[in-house]
Amino acid sequence: MGRVFFILLATLTLLKLTCASETPTAAGSELHLLTRELLDSARKPEFIDWLTRIRRTIHQKPELAFEEHDTSELIRSQLDLLGVDYAWPIANTGLVASIGSGLHPWFGLRADMDALPIREMVEWEYKSKEDGKMHACGHDAHVTMLLGAAKLLQTKRHELKGTVKLVFQPGEEGGAGAYHMMKEGAVDNFQAIFALHVTPSFPTGAIASRPGPMLAGAGRFVVIIEGQGGHAANPHATRDPILAASSAIVSLQQIVSRETDPLEAGVVTVGFFEGGQALNVIPQTVRFGGTFRSMTIEGLIYIQQRIKEVIEMQASVHRCSATVDFMEEKMKPYPATVNDKSMYEHAKRVGESLVGEQNVKLAPMAMGAEDFSFFTTKMPAAFFAIGTKNETIGSVKELHSPYFVLDEEVLPIGAALHAAAAISFLENPVENH
Ligand SMILES: *[C@@H]1O[C@H](CO)[C@@H](O)[C@H](O)[C@H]1NC(C)=O
Ligand SMILES: [Zn+2]
Ligand SMILES: [Zn+2]
Repeated sequence: MGRVFFILLATLTLLKLTCASETPTAAGSELHLLTRELLDSARKPEFIDWLTRIRRTIHQKPELAFEEHDTSELIRSQLDLLGVDYAWPIANTGLVASIGSGLHPWFGLRADMDALPIREMVEWEYKSKEDGKMHACGHDAHVTMLLGAAKLLQTKRHELKGTVKLVFQPGEEGGAGAYHMMKEGAVDNFQAIFALHVTPSFPTGAIASRPGPMLAGAGRFVVIIEGQGGHAANPHATRDPILAASSAIVSLQQIVSRETDPLEAGVVTVGFFEGGQALNVIPQTVRFGGTFRSMTIEGLIYIQQRIKEVIEMQASVHRCSATVDFMEEKMKPYPATVNDKSMYEHAKRVGESLVGEQNVKLAPMAMGAEDFSFFTTKMPAAFFAIGTKNETIGSVKELHSPYFVLDEEVLPIGAALHAAAAISFLENPVENH
């Protein structure tokens, strides 16, 4: 019965789409022609071969944050072959390519280049050749899709009503590469920016996003609790940092549960705890640390402040002292990723035209973080997830898993989506601010 209903629904949808395309708005039909053309080009066998070769080359040679030298070089050599100009280096290995008239508006497309310190467990021909490093977050696909967009855009460079800026950034995985690119002026004077992230949460051919906050802001903390070590049989002659740290950690869990609005998402997680070595010794110090998250800047600031207070005070209850390090010089806390409403609408419309209305989903909010968020604080921005799940080929494992498999069929779709989002924004920038 469910099946009959589905067929009925599918038929109705098809009818609706058919009717809609018989009386299209001029802009709608133009967009439809554009997305068809781009997707057809990107799905030509030789285009797919080229994309697949690039993705596999990068996949075999994963590089960690700010070490993306070979990846950056591969990108530059492909851009050279395409005849695309770029500014380089930015934030070590990053670069920004330009396609179009050079005039405003400038529309940004972004890909991140770094891999993860994970040993790949997938056995296949193009498995990572770097032991302990893997593109388990799909950034190899992001780079490839953006190069695909460069190739599509380059053939249309004389028709572009402005300039497309292709941002290849280092260090997304905790390194705040986007922040460092921004600090070096890489996205100055952009009117808007768009990015894609692959995800096995949706099937290949689907995309998803949401207006407003989508991903959390996130910070990190490392704590040292200093007590006074001694014999475990004489606790009164010591100041026990294990107990102080334990109390502090229990109290940390009450920041979100007792102090923040239950309708506003927040997370405090302690992810590591190190202290002591022997059964009969109270150690001198304990180290622990973790992450805290919120959907708002105010929430993030509040939780951060309270983490410091709670730990310091709990330490002093137990006659210990604490230092709480948020590592802000080394690693900026990530703000929340907030999609601008009209940029979201723009990308959604382009996506609907490209993959079909039924394949554009509303993404749930998630407490994961993403450094694209730095760009979202500076200009109208949209961040979209693009599905890679296909049970037939087994691309079902989550991001950051050593078993992560990418469905390479996403590559031409992502390339076309990037290019279409950029071209149509340049055609109609006023509508988008
Ligand atoms: C999954 O992959 C198989 C084999 O390549 C293909 O036939 C099928 O259409 C794919 N399904 C989706 C949803 O992409
Ligand atoms: Zn990741
Ligand atoms: Zn990622």
